[in-house]
Amino acid sequence: MAKGQKLVSFLTFQLILVLLVLDQTNAQGLSLDYYSKTCPDLGNIVRKEIHRVISIAPSLAAPLLRMHFHDCFVRGCDASVLLNGTTNNPAEKAAIPNLSLRGFNIIDNVKALVEKACPGVVSCADILALVARDAVLEIHGPFWPVPLGRRDGRVSIMNQVFAELPAPFHNISTLKAFFAAKGLNTKDVAVLSGGHTIGTSHCGGFSNRLYNFTGRGDTDPTLDPNYIVKLKQKCKPADTTTLVEMDPGSFKTFDEDYFTLVAKRRGLFQSDAALLDDPETKAYVFLQAQTHGSTFGKDFAQSMVKMGKALVLTGTQGEIRKHCALVN
Ligand code: HEM
Ligand SMILES: *[C@@H]1O[C@H](CO)[C@@H](O)[C@H](O)[C@H]1NC(C)=O
Ligand SMILES: *[C@@H]1O[C@H](CO)[C@@H](O)[C@H](O)[C@H]1NC(C)=O
Ligand SMILES: *[C@@H]1O[C@H](CO)[C@@H](O)[C@H](O)[C@H]1NC(C)=O
Ligand SMILES: *[C@@H]1O[C@H](CO)[C@@H](O)[C@H](O)[C@H]1NC(C)=O
Repeated sequence: MAKGQKLVSFLTFQLILVLLVLDQTNAQGLSLDYYSKTCPDLGNIVRKEIHRVISIAPSLAAPLLRMHFHDCFVRGCDASVLLNGTTNNPAEKAAIPNLSLRGFNIIDNVKALVEKACPGVVSCADILALVARDAVLEIHGPFWPVPLGRRDGRVSIMNQVFAELPAPFHNISTLKAFFAAKGLNTKDVAVLSGGHTIGTSHCGGFSNRLYNFTGRGDTDPTLDPNYIVKLKQKCKPADTTTLVEMDPGSFKTFDEDYFTLVAKRRGLFQSDAALLDDPETKAYVFLQAQTHGSTFGKDFAQSMVKMGKALVLTGTQGEIRKHCALVN
């Protein structure tokens, strides 16, 4: 081998090493072509089924996106959100935020189709990641590449949801801490909150802001008073069933309107309003609101790839579940 060639291959080797080391910091072993030999049709199977589902019911894109978020924030992206619990050991599903989780049957259907094509090969955690991406794409959101190779966990604990999933009443420092625990920074808090450009919320997620903010029958002073009047028409006190669009008028469209709302103090949750309490997240909100979101799609794609690497199980850790609701 010529000297120059040797040097080039040495440098390439060094570069690969550096990339590997960088990669190991959060997601050892995930790769875009992970199933290229063992389940080459995976991408098509998922895309086709999600296309079928979302063209019938566009409002299902939101819960499918939320499912992946919920999964990644509790124990990392290991499909623990999908496991059924028992009376003695209630799973994540049994936590109060479960009321807002929908679409388990869609995941089960995708998994069944994938199992038919490549039995015992593809994890439920990877299916969740692909489904979230394809669902967003179907409603004209951004595309992002989904590195694969996650393995499924064997544990799901109800109480861990309260400890790890951000809550609608969290302030900005708590949100930043919860995101940091999953390898996500302050910018990711702002960007990923933009997921609230689609979907609905139960009144319970914000009714304290309308009726009893500090326990004296008062309202949240950071919420636009005109908007409070409108929300009160939809949500009576103690209403636990009514759903409210988070981005009224465009709750099925993946756009940057969310940031315009937050900038106008019309973010539905305290956690949305909290983005105005930190200089970095506030600057991001106003930038997207003013420039009409020139970077939101690109930023969201990047942050979703990052979120999808949170504390993943790889290699021989965990297992490949046969049914997403049950450990093998
Ligand atoms: C910043 C911390 C976050 C908090 C506190 C939060 C909280 C919530 C709450 C309380 C709901 C309403 C659930 C219901 O009552 O049905 C909701 C809905 C939703 N969230 Fe978040 N969320 C956060 C971050 C995220 C992220 C990072 C994503 C995705 C990237 C996301 C995507 C969604 C979607 C799509 C819905 C609508 C679900 C539906 O229509 O069924 N959220 N969120
Ligand atoms: C998981 O629990 C749900 C709700 O209790 C039930 O409908 C479903 O059949 C269970 N799944 C399996 C595979 O046992
Ligand atoms: C969700 O939680 C409620 C009570 O908080 C419970 O009645 C319900 O069975 C749970 N749903 C699932 C699918 O576990
Ligand atoms: C945010 O909430 C946490 C937990 O409730 C609390 O300890 C902290 O003091 C709050 N921070 C601010 C700045 O309000
Ligand atoms: C408001 O909250 C306080 C303190 O939690 C409680 O005692 C009071 O009953 C609540 N008022 C209403 C109208 O729910």
